Amino acid sequence: MAPAGSPPALNPDMVGYYARRAPDYDDVYRIPARAPELAALRAWLAEAVRGRDVLEVAAGTGHWTAVAATTARRVVATDVNAAMLAHAAARGLGPHVSLRPADAFDLPLLPDAPNTAMAHLWWSHLRRGERGRFLAHLRSRVQPNARLLMLDECDHPDIAPPASRHDAEGNGYEARRLADGEVFAILKNYPDDAELRADLALACDAIEIRRGAYFWAVQAVFR
Ligand SMILES: C[S@@+](CC[C@H](N)C(=O)[O-])C[C@H]1O[C@@H](n2cnc3c(N)ncnc32)[C@H](O)[C@@H]1O
Repeated sequence: MAPAGSPPALNPDMVGYYARRAPDYDDVYRIPARAPELAALRAWLAEAVRGRDVLEVAAGTGHWTAVAATTARRVVATDVNAAMLAHAAARGLGPHVSLRPADAFDLPLLPDAPNTAMAHLWWSHLRRGERGRFLAHLRSRVQPNARLLMLDECDHPDIAPPASRHDAEGNGYEARRLADGEVFAILKNYPDDAELRADLALACDAIEIRRGAYFWAVQAVFR
């Protein structure tokens, strides 16, 4: 029980949070100040997956799936939340795109291993200590020397709520309120380039990082 006078514990269930946020999740892509960076990232991603076979992790409502689908040969988009994937399905992305429920740490082993992996707005939700395990698992699901593409949010003061707390490992937690008023403590980290590069180097070479005011993006090659 929490000691008298301490704030109530916030719900730490990130999967449940995103399941309930699915209907209005795409608002994150409607913030006017971010439009120019988002346009550049869409062009970057479409070019980076052109003609390639893509396995996507934590695809959510399929915002980036739809971008990749414009140029990729095949996209298998996964997410743990069926509620999120239902929104992706409603986009009608075409026969070369399939949507599969899957946890990011239990991804499907596809008979024809993809040559590209992508995970967007996902790295920030990993605990610092589980990034290596995530990369190792993802690498086991793609071809040797597959391309890795990720983009995520920067810690911009106009967008990111201040972390309500940090744990002993240095992970930040943001207090996020759903429309019905329930507040969740969502793990959200904002690595700088040096931290990003050091973690990616656990599994990747040829690491290229782009950083704007609102987003960073990375392209790398699995060893
Ligand atoms: C910030 S959203 C990103 C969605 C999408 N990639 C995008 O960029 O718009 C995070 C996503 O991670 C999913 N998620 C949370 N925990 C997960 C897990 N353990 N395995 C797979 N997906 C998970 C949520 O359902 C949600 O769709």
